[in-house]
Formats: sequence, C-alpha cells, structure tokens
Amino acid sequence: MNKEEKILVIGSSGQIGSELVMALRKIYGNNDVFATDIKQPTSEIKKSGPFQILDVLDFNNLLHFVVRYKITQIYNLAAVLSGNAEKIPLQAWDINMKALMNTLEVARQSEAKKLFWPSSIAVFGPTTPKYNTPQLTIMEPTTVYGISKVAGERWGEYYSRRYGVDFRSVRYPGLISYKTEPGGGTTDYAVEIFYEAVKKKKYESFLDKDTELPMMFMDDAINNTIKLMRSDKEKLTIKSSYNIAGISFTPEQLAAAIKKRIPEFEINYKPDFRQKIAESWPASIDDSYARKDWGHSIEYDLEKMVDVMLENVRKKFDE
Ligand code: SER
Repeated sequence: MNKEEKILVIGSSGQIGSELVMALRKIYGNNDVFATDIKQPTSEIKKSGPFQILDVLDFNNLLHFVVRYKITQIYNLAAVLSGNAEKIPLQAWDINMKALMNTLEVARQSEAKKLFWPSSIAVFGPTTPKYNTPQLTIMEPTTVYGISKVAGERWGEYYSRRYGVDFRSVRYPGLISYKTEPGGGTTDYAVEIFYEAVKKKKYESFLDKDTELPMMFMDDAINNTIKLMRSDKEKLTIKSSYNIAGISFTPEQLAAAIKKRIPEFEINYKPDFRQKIAESWPASIDDSYARKDWGHSIEYDLEKMVDVMLENVRKKFDE
C-alpha cells in the first residue's frame, strides 16, 4: 500500500522537517520522500534521499514539482514563527498565508490531495479558557502568527469541504528537540535552556518563571503527525485542526528538573516581548477529540524528555 505514495515535505530543513523527513523515509522508503526547503538540510537528509531547493512561495515551480514527481501527499511546514513574526508583521502574514494558499491550490489542482499543515496553540488568545483549553472554543489570537494560523485553519477546512482536499492539521504545542534548533518562537526557551545548561551551567530565560505552556517532545509530535496522516478519513470529525496535548510546565519546573541532573545549574529570568505572547496562550490543552478520533497519545513526560534532551545535547558537544 505504501508503494504508491510519493511524499513532498516543504520546510525539510527546519526543526520539525529535519526529523519528519527521516521518520517518513523509514516508512515509505528513502526515494519516495522528497525533502525541499530554501535552506540546506541536515547531512542525514541529504545523504539518505532526494533533496531540492524549492520555494513554496513560487506557485508555478511548486505545481511543476508536484506533477513531475507524481506527489500524492504534501507536508507543508514552512512558516515564520511567533516571535519573529511580531518583528515583521506584514511580511510574516504574506509568507505564512501564501505558503498555505499555494499548497492548498496545488492540492486542488493536482493528484496530491492529502495535505498536512501545522497549526498551533497560538490560535488561542487571552479570551480563551486557559486551562484544559477545549477543541471548540473562543479564538481571538493577538499575534500575527496566531491570526495567520486561525485563518489558515479556516482555509484548510474550506478547501476540504468545497474541493475535497484531504486537509489534516494539529495545533502543535511548543516542540522540544535536539536535532535542529527552532528559530524565533515563543516556546524556544525550552530548547535553548538545554544547550546553555550543558555549555554554561546557567540560563537566562526570556519567559518568567511561572509561565506555564503546553509542550511536547519531538518524537511524540512526529509519531502523532504521521498517525493522523495514516488514519481513516472517515474517522476524522475535525476538518480544521486538532488540539493535541503533551506536557505542561513552567520555566521554573523545567529548570528544577535540569538541576536534579546538573546540580550547579542556575537560572535567572529576564522576560522580553515574548512574555506577553506566552501569557495570551493556554497553559494546558484538552485533546479528547484527537484521542477519540485517531488515537493521539504521548510517550514522553517531563522527566523522560529531560533525560533524552540532556543526553543528546551532551553528545552534540562531544562530537
Ligand atoms: N512554538 C511556536 C512558537 O513559539 C508556536 O507554534 O512560535
């Protein structure tokens, strides 16, 4: 069954893409997973299968690529993240929306009907219930990134109902990983802290100590993303984007977990503009729809995630 799938990953050099491509290649075969980005990928992506420089904003090239390689599924991960988007609001809106609209149109016009596009907890805002945020609730985001994600969810659902595009999406929490660092997000502190803990035994957090946010270890994010994409379409009752929960913690709780393993580790707090963004987002997520419809589940709790992060970040410095 896997044989005929040809998969295009847009944004394969980023934090999610660099791990997703390798996971997809294990399932679908190296040669049938096409990695593309405007930046060079990791060496494992380059060595293991096809990679091409491709700009998702160039519609004609994108359509040409999809037709030429008989692509059947697209994962579009290209986006400007929340913190960076606040620095260039109009550009970020243009890039994030154009990237999505181009892939929706390509899906409509080609055989690549199945499309994954990540939404985010950033779709929520200060008027949303903060704890156990429901799937269906008030969405009044205050960031450019969040506005583009809500709009994107609406467009995804529109293309799915009107044109039969098989649009699938999850609202990722902050993603924690060691392979490729994130860039310009509000939840990035939870990755940076590990590098600084290993390198300098101290970290200055740009979020305040009691800022609780929903987070997830990358392996859980990747496994669940692929699980959603492989689920029966009939089971999916949400046509926009699924809430998915992982682990919720504050910078202080994360620092305490690191200190248990590195006793000299010290943290201090110097909130910057991202504090306001974080305060507008949920602290924890209700993901009952995702669990019921397609079996969302996670394997990493805070302790397990910290062990794996420290082990692998240490390895990176030893290399
Ligand atoms: N982790 C992302 C960010 O902070 C949210 O989707 O921008």
